[in-house]
Amino acid sequence: MRRLGVGVAAVICLAVTACGGGSDGDSGKASGAGGAGDGTAVSGAKVIDPNSMNAPPKGTITYCAGKDTSGAEGDVIADFNAKYGASGYNVKLLEFATSGDEQRASFVQRQEAKSSECDVFSSDVIWTAEFASQKWLYDLTPYLDKQRSRFIAAPLETVHYGGKYWGVPFESAAAFLYYRDDQVHTPPATWQQVYADAKAGSGIVYQGAPYEGLTCDYLELAFAAGGKVLSDDGKKSEINSPANVKALQFMVDGVKDGTAANGVTTYMEEESRRYWESGKATFMRNWPYAFALGEKKGTAVAGKFKVMPFPQFEGAGKAAILGGHNFVISTYTKNPGAALKLTDFFISPDVQKTEFLDYSLAPTLASVYDDPDVTKKYAFAKELKESVGQAQARPVSPVYPQISQAIYENVNAALSGKASAADAMKKADDQINQALKTF
Ligand code: GLC
Repeated sequence: MRRLGVGVAAVICLAVTACGGGSDGDSGKASGAGGAGDGTAVSGAKVIDPNSMNAPPKGTITYCAGKDTSGAEGDVIADFNAKYGASGYNVKLLEFATSGDEQRASFVQRQEAKSSECDVFSSDVIWTAEFASQKWLYDLTPYLDKQRSRFIAAPLETVHYGGKYWGVPFESAAAFLYYRDDQVHTPPATWQQVYADAKAGSGIVYQGAPYEGLTCDYLELAFAAGGKVLSDDGKKSEINSPANVKALQFMVDGVKDGTAANGVTTYMEEESRRYWESGKATFMRNWPYAFALGEKKGTAVAGKFKVMPFPQFEGAGKAAILGGHNFVISTYTKNPGAALKLTDFFISPDVQKTEFLDYSLAPTLASVYDDPDVTKKYAFAKELKESVGQAQARPVSPVYPQISQAIYENVNAALSGKASAADAMKKADDQINQALKTF
């Protein structure tokens, strides 16, 4: 399923500083040592002309993205078409699957065929290294250079690879712990307390299916427990550590004793959200998008829940994984100017503000979090901005998809009772080392 990149050093940035992350909007710096920007240079890519968006050829371009479950993407596209349709610019939304892995496969398939079907793609923050090293993306450095300081540093860093910027961050994410404040009166200070409260209440739901989401859910606990995925030089797996086994055992125990939702090992974001919205769980781990949907009239949880950043893993630390999506422009587009025009529209403060207010999609622009309408509506705005700024990147590598697959398949096997936590980490270790040898 995975295509390999070639000749590019894997670099991991597990520390906030190494990812260029800051808790505020002090972005715009190139990454420091160990950051994703230090990957081997990608040469020969097409470079965008920032002026091309001013008067591009007229016509319809296609924006490819994951399933628009909330309607957020469709709304922005409709606004773009309302604004520019009369002057001859239109955008069509092509929806891929809900699961990130399948979205990636759909895009990869088109790029391998040199298809011009997707002019612009909503690319998960973890795919930049692979797509850029395959030369599937326009180099957007000249467009981004003048405006880097508008973005929060951590999401900006996700488009930075080999010293260049390969996309434009438009949606960021650091997951929340959602909790029923009619059932839990003191926000738990540790993950262990979360599970104790969940056990006493109606349990916890998260993303336990074997796919990218489980890698996120697992690494949030593993990093908090003090674990890592790769060695600092990115050359070796360090997944098989006592801290990682401990984090996995903690999750396994939660499934075994019924604290985690029955069926959690098959749930992705949407299944978890629906379970939560039907009122069946006391806690849910999910991305910010589930906030606005949960508050909608008709759910069993509207007005009955709060969100908080993740607590500490007992005796160790706190961690969050950086999620989100970037606009990337395909090398095979016939209209890069119109593709850039759409990209530029998506990252206007007004659009980001609307997406945040209506759909609780976390902005990538620092200023939007401080907007008075935003702080009035969302008590968590400041905390979310900090979480996004401090969230940890997943390993930056052209073989990231294989690394992640080794994690989620083995973690899922342990959660499903098919392997012990220790054996699962041992197998993941072998598979990650194998993947690292392939480039
Ligand atoms: C969300 C995040 C993305 C992550 C995915 C996992 O879409 O934005 O970064 O990879 O969830 O399911």
